[in-house]
Amino acid sequence: MSYRVLNSQLICADYERSYPWIVRGEGCWLFDDRGGRYLDASGATAAVTHLGHGNPRIAEALAQQARTLAVHPTHLFHSPIVERYFERLLAFAPSGFTRAWTISGGTEAVENAVKLAFQYHRVQGRGSRRRVIGRWSSYHGNSILALDIGGMVGRRSFYTDLMPELHLHLSPCLPYRRPEGQSVQDYEDGLVEELERCVAQHPDQIAAFIAEPIVGSALGAAGPTPTYFERIASICRAHDIVMIADEVMTGFGRTGKNFGCEHFGTHADVLACAKGISGGYIPLGALLVRDEIAQTLRESGDPFFSGQTYSCIPLAAAVGIAVLDEIEGRGLVQNAAETGDYLKQALQDHLGDLPCIGEIRGRGLFLGVEFVADRATKEPFPSALRFSKRVEASALRHGIAVLGARGTVDRVGGDHLLLAPPLILDRAEADHLARGLRAGIVDALADPGGPSDLDSAGASR
Ligand SMILES: Cc1ncc(COP(=O)(O)O)c(C=O)c1O
Repeated sequence: MSYRVLNSQLICADYERSYPWIVRGEGCWLFDDRGGRYLDASGATAAVTHLGHGNPRIAEALAQQARTLAVHPTHLFHSPIVERYFERLLAFAPSGFTRAWTISGGTEAVENAVKLAFQYHRVQGRGSRRRVIGRWSSYHGNSILALDIGGMVGRRSFYTDLMPELHLHLSPCLPYRRPEGQSVQDYEDGLVEELERCVAQHPDQIAAFIAEPIVGSALGAAGPTPTYFERIASICRAHDIVMIADEVMTGFGRTGKNFGCEHFGTHADVLACAKGISGGYIPLGALLVRDEIAQTLRESGDPFFSGQTYSCIPLAAAVGIAVLDEIEGRGLVQNAAETGDYLKQALQDHLGDLPCIGEIRGRGLFLGVEFVADRATKEPFPSALRFSKRVEASALRHGIAVLGARGTVDRVGGDHLLLAPPLILDRAEADHLARGLRAGIVDALADPGGPSDLDSAGASR
């Protein structure tokens, strides 16, 4: 059923691992070369496939623009379709965002957002502002800078000697893991004070604060306490720190609102976007910039010191417009909110009685399941068990593709899943997902010594 990739030319993560071979996608489903099918509950890796697979309108928009004009010399020309796209993007954004820029993906969006924050301070004579505040247990991309300001210890560890010890990290906001007996309000107060202390300890040094509105792969759809972001934003405003919302996973309707930050009464200064912006049909990312920041840059007379081969190209604009047509025309933000609520309830119904379920959380079609070895104490499974990876493998045998991850507890321990299916998911598919996931978790619990990778995973037919 599965195939070794030992002779593959991939530089792959695990040379010993085998994978089923996927050959086609349609809607929320993936099909392997043996006729097996899988519900794409992670939305590719991850939270990408907002429109599902095989969308003919996007394919046509892509093909037509490729025939018309894919790229052009951007140092000599600008193109109307790109300008039209920026108008659409900014209309889709929260109010107050007046400038946009596109690149090829999420890491580039984050890098460019940080560079823009540096430039914002530099043009005002504040070159000492060179530090970014990020949070542990967050992910902002895979370049050295993005890893550095992110907080996934496992991903950073190989490169820490290349990181300049410039950037700063705060505690994540994960109410489920607050200290035993502490109220949510006290927990939030503590996190806000931590930021205040950090800013006070580094006067005139902080350029930007970056956070995922709801933390995706690093914490399994962990949202903040009720007024956390409002309070963080007001500290940033008071100190003129550029607040960057990493909306790479949470943008474009994923959480049941256009952008994740819209749940929390603050819209940040810069939105870093990718993934759902193109639904996976082309590598695409974007920056959306609040007017005050954009004006300061404009008044300096300098261009934005960025620009890459695939910045602001017509091909990406055509796909981006078609994606927005689909999201808006088919009411997919609303569907994410409604089917997301339905799926969350289905997960509670199907998984709630299993002893390893710590918390089911998230918003819209951006949901997470945190596993525990003991519900009363919230004790995680031993790391060596790789429980989330076991569930990933066993769920796949039941035809459900999920993303299992670690690091929920103390940055390294703890297991969780991220669920981010296409925004076109319907209720029958939500039920199927919850049932299949239950079967996978039950298998993993029954055989904790069973396979924790995909060696024996095969498709359900
Ligand atoms: C929140 C967040 N930011 C940034 C990135 C990096 O995006 P990309 O993989 O497109 O470079 C990711 C990718 O998973 C992400 O989840």
